[in-house]
Amino acid sequence: MAFDIEMIKGVYSRMAERVDTAREVVGKPLTLAEKILYNHLWDGKATSAFVRGKDYVDFAPDRIACQDATAQMALLQFMQAGKTKVAVPTTVHCDHLIQAKIGADKDLQNALNTSSEVFNFLASVSDKYGIGFWKPGSGIIHQVVLENYAFPGGMMIGTDSHTVNAGGLGMVAIGVGGADAVDVMAGMPWELKFPKLIGVKLTGKLSGWSSPKDVILKVAGILTVKGGTGAIVEYFGEGAKSMSATGKGTICNMGAEIGATTSTFGYDASIERYLRATGRDEVADAANKVASYLTGDDEVYENPEQYFDEVIEINLSELLPHLNGPFTPDLATPVGEMTEKAKSNDWPLKVEWGLIGSCTNSSYEDLSRAASVAKQAVDKKLTTKAEFGINPGSEQVRYTAERDGLLETFEKLNAKIFTNACGPCIGQWARYSDPKNAPKNSIVHSFNRNFSKRADGNPNTHAFVASPELVAAIAISGRLDFNPLTDKLINQDGQEVMLEEPTGLELPPRGFDVEDAGFEAPQEDGSGVEVVVSPTSERLQLLTPFEPIGSEINGAKLLIKAFGKCTTDHISMAGPWLRFRGHLDNISNNCLIGAVNAFGKATNKVKNQLTGEFGPVPDTARAYKAAGVYSIVVGDHNYGEGSSREHAAMEPRHLGVAAVIVKSFARIHETNLKKQGMLGLTFDNEADYDLIQEDDTFNFIDLNEFAPGKQLTLEIVHADGSKDTIKLNHTYNQPQIDWYNEGSALNLIKKQNA
Ligand code: F3S
Repeated sequence: MAFDIEMIKGVYSRMAERVDTAREVVGKPLTLAEKILYNHLWDGKATSAFVRGKDYVDFAPDRIACQDATAQMALLQFMQAGKTKVAVPTTVHCDHLIQAKIGADKDLQNALNTSSEVFNFLASVSDKYGIGFWKPGSGIIHQVVLENYAFPGGMMIGTDSHTVNAGGLGMVAIGVGGADAVDVMAGMPWELKFPKLIGVKLTGKLSGWSSPKDVILKVAGILTVKGGTGAIVEYFGEGAKSMSATGKGTICNMGAEIGATTSTFGYDASIERYLRATGRDEVADAANKVASYLTGDDEVYENPEQYFDEVIEINLSELLPHLNGPFTPDLATPVGEMTEKAKSNDWPLKVEWGLIGSCTNSSYEDLSRAASVAKQAVDKKLTTKAEFGINPGSEQVRYTAERDGLLETFEKLNAKIFTNACGPCIGQWARYSDPKNAPKNSIVHSFNRNFSKRADGNPNTHAFVASPELVAAIAISGRLDFNPLTDKLINQDGQEVMLEEPTGLELPPRGFDVEDAGFEAPQEDGSGVEVVVSPTSERLQLLTPFEPIGSEINGAKLLIKAFGKCTTDHISMAGPWLRFRGHLDNISNNCLIGAVNAFGKATNKVKNQLTGEFGPVPDTARAYKAAGVYSIVVGDHNYGEGSSREHAAMEPRHLGVAAVIVKSFARIHETNLKKQGMLGLTFDNEADYDLIQEDDTFNFIDLNEFAPGKQLTLEIVHADGSKDTIKLNHTYNQPQIDWYNEGSALNLIKKQNA
């Protein structure tokens, strides 16, 4: 599990030169985010300043982390690249595929029984290609990364949106799709639009019931779920320095809930303490030598309005505990205002569950503060009104919390201690046998997301997000509008008692401890490791390289003309299909089934031109493919918006779609299509979308002259024999045309490695 100190020293050794050069070319003092970005340029030292929110820039991240659900397709793709090892340090974490139901041991065993083939696959690929493997039960990806790998001034990407958690240790850490991770694993650059910058100045100091969680709950209330889009949020000021590193992690974690690219904090004493407490003296010593480069320039923090695109100021001394929700994490309510708000919105006041933990809030400090509240309930003879569930973030935290008696305190309140895994945070909570018809109720949790159905699948569950200590207090009281600052509770003796302010410990006084952290190091030479995938598996399938489509596309048939919004969810639905994430053929049965057909306005019903019959999109595509006929997808504006999921490009490619022609693309999806070696094109004249008829056949006239900046010509042959010839635009550069010519980006990498 060793962190890569040589890599970290390498990052620091080039920092002074690159950052100083960047300061010169930008012509002004730099924020921390800019320092990290300019120190990770793929092309080395900056030669010109990048325009925030506009320029696309190639970066060279230091690390990659993948979780078990997204790692499957990412690693299957990486295996296609013909490499013997990943190009940058990479880890895989088994945390998403474990259900929370009975309690840690039984739930873990159950997950091993149901998903062992996936875990074994991930373990063997990791072993073979030099990837660190964190087995089921070892912990949640972001907590494990914080404890072991995150480092100040570093850049990492991860195949999970809460990768941003590592900003708590001063990184620029960004959640990406599998295709991006594969590029970096294979030694290619990673492209990102140079982000805008939001500065959050924290003054004062937290006290009493207020916690770092309340900082981000407040920020979410100010910025809303979209307010951080395309931006890095940088926290600074005395208030920032007064918080623990794990508290900073919580704030950065939920930056995903305001849509931010990522969030970060400058290196300070609390980050140093955390590095040392987690066995990383070497990293702290190395960071101390370049400390001035691991935080923004003084001038930036003195006059932030001049250097950030937006500035928010929060006085921590005045910050009240918040409860955000239901159904959205930006609906912020200070505790004292909940009674009125809940009544006017008809939110159930009775709270049925309090859940503590997840990747967001399961540090030692979090557990100790929540346990201090739980202990009072026992000492003051209070009976808890709601049920308690705890999902620790890592085995190291769990083991240490158990050793120090924190878990025992929760167990005295009959808490269920779930596996060190995502569990209820990602809907892996078997709370009901029939969640769709479950009753209206309220729960409080210290997780990050509270969208409808996210925790338990019940659309009637009103989930509210709060700090672990407030979750504990509310669960004890059983009331959503309980305000521990003012409200009294009646104990078993009929006496009125109040809960005192929580107390906690930033770090365990006796240090962290663990018997088996759950890490498996890869082989030094993995060439002898065999990756086994059963040919009869329904969840995993080895990929076969895509054949190049070539310069002759004639007689292609319209598969679907998508009407209106067509997101990656419409193209490759989630939900029950997630189970097939590692099996391209099986998951392709969801291809475009959510898209609305412009003809008839139904979903998943398109005309098969070969038979004249109507049927599901995947079946029709398969029929064309079997007949040796390419198919074409036509779409509207911003086609492929949503997630960066690579399945949305791989599935149509697998089913024989040669081109996707739209009014406009969401950029990531457009790039994903290019990577899979297919055509992603836009109408030169948007109105040409209206020319496309249900029975159309397509001929590409000049694909043999495919070149950067040169339009393509498409002949549309209608059923009555009439023809339209239209112009199509594209954004392929020469390397991307090479991907197309080779059949995919990975085919090209493999060829270059041969
Ligand atoms: Fe994500 Fe929650 Fe797991 S935010 S990493 S699902 S604990």
